[in-house]
Amino acid sequence: MKTDRADILTCLRNSGDYVSGQQLCDRLGVSRTAVWKVINQLKEEGYRIESVSRKGYRLVESPADVYSQSEIASRLHTKWAGRNLHFFESTGSTNPDAKRFAEEGEPHGTTVVADRQTAGRGRRGRSWESPAGKSVYFTIVVRPHFSPDKASMITLVMALAVAEAISEVTGLEAGIKWPNDIVVNGKKVVGILTELSMTPEMNETQFLVAGVGVNVNQDSAEEFPEEIRNTATSLKMEAGCSFARAVLLERILAWFEEVYDAFEQTLDLSGLKERYENRLVGRDAVVRVLDPAGEYNGISRGINETGELIVEKEDGSGTVLVYAGEVSVRGLYGYT
Ligand code: BTN
Repeated sequence: MKTDRADILTCLRNSGDYVSGQQLCDRLGVSRTAVWKVINQLKEEGYRIESVSRKGYRLVESPADVYSQSEIASRLHTKWAGRNLHFFESTGSTNPDAKRFAEEGEPHGTTVVADRQTAGRGRRGRSWESPAGKSVYFTIVVRPHFSPDKASMITLVMALAVAEAISEVTGLEAGIKWPNDIVVNGKKVVGILTELSMTPEMNETQFLVAGVGVNVNQDSAEEFPEEIRNTATSLKMEAGCSFARAVLLERILAWFEEVYDAFEQTLDLSGLKERYENRLVGRDAVVRVLDPAGEYNGISRGINETGELIVEKEDGSGTVLVYAGEVSVRGLYGYT
């Protein structure tokens, strides 16, 4: 759902020079008046666009951290991820929105982005505080051809994609706390909540939604809810500068498309395991496995091809495969 505005922005940004009104009309198949209207809207939003007679329009400067449907759509280079894009200034939670769109038949890669969520959801029934203007909140729909038992791997696929994007955009070292928290300098910057919808016969995956929250431009820990103040951080707090959310989101979607396509070839993590493990925090370190059937300590030895964490039990009784979702794992020292 790329709008004329997004197309015009793409043309101006890619050209870096003057683009004539006629070129824009021809490319988009719209009238001169339509182009002129869009240019004026963009100027009102804070884009500095020069208009020079007989030369056309030139994008001089974009406002800092502009976050809108057209800004995001105009940056996309993906084949399917985010190509069908819904942007909301405010919504309850992008996860149920994405499920609704998927149920209505919208395609693989449909993405819902919000500037603010009023009922943001975290894992294990927790909430995810989602104020406006600071963070990235989005959910992507995927329609995989696999049985529901493989669904938890998508969370790891998304974690890898987000970590790659964060490292690329910010230069920070983004680690993964198995299965799917992204951690920078020992603190959490990203949470991922994946939900599955099955066919009525319950034997096939109808679609999955993967919801991602990234703390981007918070200035200090005081901006987080009390209970996560010691364990959460933002990209700005770690890197010392702000980031344009649309740029980060575009890179996340691009990496997700790449990593997901690699996953789809084998329907397991064999092609991605090494990359994932290179980012895994606490590898070869002592972890505590909070299994409802009994907690124990062990050494984390990486993941297997289906994404389970391999833990060597400390009591010498052998190696256990820890399944995402059932149990949680803590490092013995601190959050990670
Ligand atoms: C976690 O608890 O670590 C998971 C947090 C997931 C938050 C994201 S923000 C976008 C999407 N919409 C939600 O309501 N939750 C996810």
